[in-house]
Amino acid sequence: MLNKQLNKSLRSLFALLVLVMGLGFATTTLAADEQSSKQQAGKENPAELWRAVKAGDSGFTTAQGIEPGVLINVAGNQGRIIRDDYITPGVALALVGVFAAFLLFYFVNGPAKLAKGYSGKMVERWSKADIWLHWIMAVACLTLMLTGLVIILGKIAIQPYVSAGIWAGVIGFSKLVHDWTGPVFIVSWLLCIVKWMPLQTFKMYDLKWFLVVGGYINFGPFKGKHPDSGFANAGEKMWFWTLVFFGLFISVSGIMLVLPGLDLPREASMAALLIHGISAAILIAFTIVHIWMATALSEGGMESMVSGYCDENWAVQHHNVWFDEIKANGSIKYQK
Ligand code: HEM
Repeated sequence: MLNKQLNKSLRSLFALLVLVMGLGFATTTLAADEQSSKQQAGKENPAELWRAVKAGDSGFTTAQGIEPGVLINVAGNQGRIIRDDYITPGVALALVGVFAAFLLFYFVNGPAKLAKGYSGKMVERWSKADIWLHWIMAVACLTLMLTGLVIILGKIAIQPYVSAGIWAGVIGFSKLVHDWTGPVFIVSWLLCIVKWMPLQTFKMYDLKWFLVVGGYINFGPFKGKHPDSGFANAGEKMWFWTLVFFGLFISVSGIMLVLPGLDLPREASMAALLIHGISAAILIAFTIVHIWMATALSEGGMESMVSGYCDENWAVQHHNVWFDEIKANGSIKYQK
């Protein structure tokens, strides 16, 4: 009895197995047939094949990997068009447009002078570690910007005017320097973010700073205004948080692009390329403004990132809340 039942069960199991295998074989054969008929159709009608390739259709190949049968990835091609039509001109505009706008503003407005001149008394503002950190990050960032600009704009601004050999050298060198400077920027950026974040939280008085454009305008109703400001003013805080977010986007997308071993789908690589380009355009625009403000616009501003000390009158005019605070709590340190 038991034997009979076992026999029956084994027979049903075998039948099921044959059915499943048969179904599997049929679908594989159908798919292979479909592909081979597509390829056959392609051989007979190349235009049809090219249409299928451009539409991202997968063909038959023994190669291994992600989408090995796809010759043209549709998202990748769309991304290339977005980069060429929008991101490349955007980066050029961020560079030339922001520089020109600030130059014009500087000629019309002039620098933000110290209302009471220099006092000669120097107050400690940044530690030696802060200064090192700032300049390592700044040099890395400027190197990335310069080499990145060659990579994205070089084909328009350099390649047509030099020999193929020179262009190969320039683009190869830029790519090499760009790839190896990335980690220096990421580490210094991370340290800066962690170390300086407590100084960069927004306060209510920052709103007023924006309303009077920080007191940097030398004409009209804004003239002579010195809005309240803590250790960092509202403009510096905006720069800092832009650097936090777009520094993160540019770093993560950069890692995705520089490590082919990650074997990402082509959609992810293209998304990383676009995010990298957009973040670069935004950071370039902000960096140009930052350098203009530090070097030309704010009289006495550069000194603090060179020696670590700022003039007392500069501290009172530009960072009064911070100055009052360190004076009141006794942590103020003068240069001896
Ligand atoms: C030639 C280039 C640069 C110059 C002359 C410059 C100058 C300065 C100066 C003077 C300060 C101190 C401002 C203060 O004490 O209130 C400063 C702060 C700062 N810099 Fe730069 N910098 C340069 C490039 C950069 C770059 C490329 C970055 C970004 C990667 C950067 C990021 C910062 C940040 C986050 C701060 C602190 C936030 C602030 O207070 O503005 N700097 N810089």
